[in-house]
Amino acid sequence: MARPAKAPGRSTAPRQATAPRPADALSGDSLAEAGDARIAWASAQMPVLDQIRARFAAARPLAGVRVGACLHITAETANLVRTLVFGGAEVALCAANPLSTQDDVAAALAERHGAAVYGRRGEDPAQLTAHVDTVIATSPQVVIDDGADLVAGVHERGSQLAEQLIGATEETTAGLLRVRAMEAQGVLRCPVMAVNESSAERSFNDYYGTGQSTVDGILRATNLLLAGRTFVVFGYGFTGRGIALRARGAGASVVVCEVDPLRALEARMAGYEVMPSLAAAAVGDVFVTVTGGRDVIGAEHFQRMKDGAVLANAGHFDVEISLPALHSLATGRQRVLPLVEQYTLSDGRRLNLLADGRVVNLAAGDGHPAAVMDISFAIQALCVERLVSAPAGFSPGVIGVPAEIDGAVARLKLDSLGIEIDELTDAQRDYLSAWEQPLR
Ligand SMILES: NC(=O)c1ccc[n+]([C@@H]2O[C@H](COP(=O)([O-])OP(=O)(O)OC[C@H]3O[C@@H](n4cnc5c(N)ncnc54)[C@H](O)[C@@H]3O)[C@@H](O)[C@H]2O)c1
Repeated sequence: MARPAKAPGRSTAPRQATAPRPADALSGDSLAEAGDARIAWASAQMPVLDQIRARFAAARPLAGVRVGACLHITAETANLVRTLVFGGAEVALCAANPLSTQDDVAAALAERHGAAVYGRRGEDPAQLTAHVDTVIATSPQVVIDDGADLVAGVHERGSQLAEQLIGATEETTAGLLRVRAMEAQGVLRCPVMAVNESSAERSFNDYYGTGQSTVDGILRATNLLLAGRTFVVFGYGFTGRGIALRARGAGASVVVCEVDPLRALEARMAGYEVMPSLAAAAVGDVFVTVTGGRDVIGAEHFQRMKDGAVLANAGHFDVEISLPALHSLATGRQRVLPLVEQYTLSDGRRLNLLADGRVVNLAAGDGHPAAVMDISFAIQALCVERLVSAPAGFSPGVIGVPAEIDGAVARLKLDSLGIEIDELTDAQRDYLSAWEQPLR
């Protein structure tokens, strides 16, 4: 069932400097064994996916279906892939980001869990693109994307491949922007379920998952004390508000920079300082971009920043902090810690860029905790099942996750936590759906 997997250790890619991990010293069987241990640890915190996996193993709803996935190759993703494989799918997985791949997990998935895996930590963009091409060459019938590289790639390669697509799911805001651009231009030929916009994903993944793991990534990379520092968040969207919350929890004074008046007002009402980005540049100690846009921090900001400022990005692409502007202003640069590149400006100020401006919670941390990915990936698994079981049921275009999937996942999660809730009585249900007077 599984295609030959590319073992991470065989890549010729030069490794970038990254935080040393225990798995770096391993190879072959011991690498896969270390990966398996991580997968098992994550699995213990993913009870919803566990229940879906048991059902899939019995019912095999994905028997023979070719699934192409472009996701962060982490232990949590491995548990999604295992679920799909148990359901009968043939899965080919490539990395959505070169710095998030856990090599031991990739080895375990390829060698022990029947998936074809293409990715190695620290690969360059050309290798990343080559792996996307390899997955596209497997003619996937269902795509699971995190950034729309597979969906866009399949469509770029012509109508035959696109017509084979039953549908896709998209995990992130940046990917949905691309897919909606395809839809607006009339080129999107398959349904794409906007997993990123499901209620459960917004409430848990973006807010709690990105919030905690972004602050965790910054702390792991720098070991800074946040108490007493000024922490600037660019973008108060679904993810930015989670980051602001965790930074405040760690004792920082939080400043929010926004371009949307409603969200700026929400940030103010939540108790944060709100100011234009150039004003924030002068007062901040730590800066995090999470807007989905580009060049959010640029030359004018760098020119105002304090000596020692720390710059991190939690947005999907590494374009939110303008690296060309930083390179052109810097008179020198030096890697001072595994994930910290220090740029010296002509007046001697030093600016510290984390993880090359790439998504910091994955590049410097372990990404979203398994307990929150349990919810996201349970939604993914059920969306894949729904697409396959109703191929004629969805027209091409971006579609919402069916509400019953959101509800089913929330209920399974509550069950796993041993939490019971009340049900509406018939009289209450009738009252809520009535419109005739009198309603009192
Ligand atoms: N690191 C992760 O694990 C992770 C998780 C989820 C989403 N993301 C990524 O984070 C980014 C944001 O996602 P989101 O779901 O919060 O999006 P969102 O649309 O809910 O929020 C983005 C916010 O940024 C604001 N913004 C846009 N340009 C700005 C600018 N120049 N200055 C200040 N504010 C600006 C917008 O007004 C909006 O309020 C995307 O790239 C998404 O893919 C990353």
